[in-house]
Amino acid sequence: MDATSDLRGRTALVTGANAGIGYWCVEQLAARGARVVLGCRSPERARTAVSAIRTQVPAADLRVLPLDLGSLESVAAAAVDLDERVDAVICNAGVKAADRGARTGDDFDLMMGTNFLGHFALVAQVESLLAPDARVVAVGSIAHRFAHLDPAGIDAEWRGSSLRQYGRSKAALMTFAFELARRWSRSSRMAVCAHPGYAVDPLTPRRPGLAQVPGLVRALAAPSRILVQGKDGGALPIVHAATAAEVFSGDYWGPGGPLEFRGAPARVVASDGVRSSSAGEALWSAAESLTGVPFPS
Ligand SMILES: NC(=O)c1ccc[n+]([C@@H]2O[C@H](COP(=O)([O-])OP(=O)(O)OC[C@H]3O[C@@H](n4cnc5c(N)ncnc54)[C@H](OP(=O)(O)O)[C@@H]3O)[C@@H](O)[C@H]2O)c1
Repeated sequence: MDATSDLRGRTALVTGANAGIGYWCVEQLAARGARVVLGCRSPERARTAVSAIRTQVPAADLRVLPLDLGSLESVAAAAVDLDERVDAVICNAGVKAADRGARTGDDFDLMMGTNFLGHFALVAQVESLLAPDARVVAVGSIAHRFAHLDPAGIDAEWRGSSLRQYGRSKAALMTFAFELARRWSRSSRMAVCAHPGYAVDPLTPRRPGLAQVPGLVRALAAPSRILVQGKDGGALPIVHAATAAEVFSGDYWGPGGPLEFRGAPARVVASDGVRSSSAGEALWSAAESLTGVPFPS
């Protein structure tokens, strides 16, 4: 499959599919004929996204799956509800900023709990539904490079900036994906990381009901297109990682332009920290123990 190939007969689950990059992953996959399951915590926002996609792809094959990654109970229920073969899971949903001390309903740090632990529990619990050649795509971030991740302390209270903790949560998700790639090395399944670069709403094409950006703000933001991109562009490396034939398990994809902020999908470099097998093993054990969800592989 190349990045424009026909995806009829393939099913992708996209988390955080009702807004931003997740929305654009769904639109791009649906336009190529894939069936897409939208994992969303708000039924209303999910309905708005489905209507918006149908304005572009009237025959889109879409299903909404209620999913709150901040709740292990919701994740477990979603895994039971899903009950169909899945060819790709795109772990996209993410919280980018939180007040210090913000916690999920399960009392995990909000960013670590949503961005990493929720996805760990989801992938573990849908594993039996994954096709023999399925791909798991972890949506990482350039911010992982500035993060120091201590697997033993992933739920520890953090000091310092919200951005650093965000970077840690993204580093955790990426470390998990690279560990999954190692654990799947003798199977035809793939685990891959991808990041969207720097993707902003004012440069994103309008869709009904989605991020409403005033025309003046769009006009003022237009010159920044030289450096950054819309969320439609941000979705490209992620969809590429989920579908393209040139992708291998353990790869990391992002925009190939300056600073990896924008541009066509290209293989990019992840930090040694997130590729470390000892960090991967320690993080895996910590995630199993914190979530109480054993990973079947
Ligand atoms: N934009 C960038 O430049 C950039 C750069 C690097 C990485 N990323 C990553 O790309 C991903 C998407 O970013 P974005 O810019 O598209 O963000 P966004 O516009 O804020 O969208 C985030 C999505 O995640 C969902 N979400 C948040 N918490 C959730 C939960 N507990 N359960 C289920 N869904 C939840 C949101 O749903 P609600 O509508 O219900 O809140 C929304 O659909 C994130 O993982 C982010 O870390 C983005």
